[in-house]
Amino acid sequence: MKAISIKETGRLNGTITIQGSKNTVLPIMAATVLGSGISVIENCPVIEDVYAMCELLQCLQIHTTLEGHTLTIDTTQAAYAPLPYEMTSRLRSSILLLGPMLARWKQAEIGMPGGCAIGLRPIDIHLEGLMKMNVDFRMRNQMLYCNTYHLQGCEYHLRFPSVGATENLILAATGATGRTILRGIAKEPEIIELCQYLQRMGVTMEGIGTDVLTIKGTSQFVACDYNNVYDRIVAGTYLLMAAAIPCDIKMVGIDDIRYMANVIRVASQLGAQVIRMDSYLEVQSNGWINPGTFQTGIYPEFPTDLQPVLVATLLRGQGISYVEETVFEKRFSIVSELRKLGAEIEIQDQTLKISGGHCLQGHTVKATDLRQGAALVLAGLMSKGYTTVTDISYIERGYEDIVEDLRQLGARIQYI
Ligand code: UD1
Repeated sequence: MKAISIKETGRLNGTITIQGSKNTVLPIMAATVLGSGISVIENCPVIEDVYAMCELLQCLQIHTTLEGHTLTIDTTQAAYAPLPYEMTSRLRSSILLLGPMLARWKQAEIGMPGGCAIGLRPIDIHLEGLMKMNVDFRMRNQMLYCNTYHLQGCEYHLRFPSVGATENLILAATGATGRTILRGIAKEPEIIELCQYLQRMGVTMEGIGTDVLTIKGTSQFVACDYNNVYDRIVAGTYLLMAAAIPCDIKMVGIDDIRYMANVIRVASQLGAQVIRMDSYLEVQSNGWINPGTFQTGIYPEFPTDLQPVLVATLLRGQGISYVEETVFEKRFSIVSELRKLGAEIEIQDQTLKISGGHCLQGHTVKATDLRQGAALVLAGLMSKGYTTVTDISYIERGYEDIVEDLRQLGARIQYI
């Protein structure tokens, strides 16, 4: 298995291009199941999760080709098939095929989803909403068996604005009879992108971008192309890294800066100078971090996905910082690995107390999830000597090439 070797890096300079969004393209790929035709997706990130989703689509006789960053999806031969656990367990977003399969075939036999182990990741909200739409289900041996004689529009209030449940219920509702009103839904940019894409496919919706969405089901879907937006979490990762390492960098490919307003605010609070231009950001910092108190939250709050990267950044702070995680229970796998480098971090219930300013010493550390892995790369850049990050397949799920991106900025980093 590949690993990454990182040497302490004093400065980052240059330009970095931000890849297309993982969390946007995966639900759009799931949405293509609804129609019949050819859809071309531009700016598709070349990452493991996209390959895994392509393989799942291929089980449904949906043909995919990825050339450069252009993904072509051909659903003209689409046919119902069960999706085995060995394949669905490769990624969390496999569960997003449930909604479109029910909308199209009124049945789905689908393995439980996998994805990063970042806390409890139940699917009860997905299932409760689908039950309201008249879906019966049972679970056996990691397989979920769902069917409905008549997918019926409904009113449903999500007890928590889960991103995945919102996407799944929207996707199912597109094929339901009558209207579905979903209340208390998530409002992440990925959901707005999905809704706008579905509108172009022929679905009538009201309330896009608010927490109440009305969807009128249809059976007439038009296959549509899609130009993917930038990945706000990847951009945020590099922005926080830039705050922690003295730098003068330009981040290009950021088409809508609003999607990362909160991360820019936090990076500025940490001490980075962030200059917003039309389609790029300029970031300068001297690597001095202001300690502070931070909290993750649902969009538009600071994203939970960047919590491990923020924690690593705060190790550079001259004093004590606190980070409270409010979205996932115990998403703290970063702590034990950072301690191996000499970090002083205490877990106090859902909050981390980070004592910054201590010298970090390179060591071998293990990636156990996507964003935690990226945070370990940052910690390696800040640690004396050499750091090896192992199990980097987790990082490859969501970052196209973190090594090449950072090497272009002058980091001393390589695959081993
Ligand atoms: C998505 C993102 C992930 C991000 C997360 C929160 C993708 C592919 N992944 O994950 O990167 O960290 O949003 O922004 O888009 N929950 C339940 N029951 C459910 C569903 C969720 O209790 O049925 C809880 C979860 O345990 C968690 C919280 O809701 O505590 C948020 O989860 P959710 O928004 O569903 O995250 P994902 O869609 O899995």
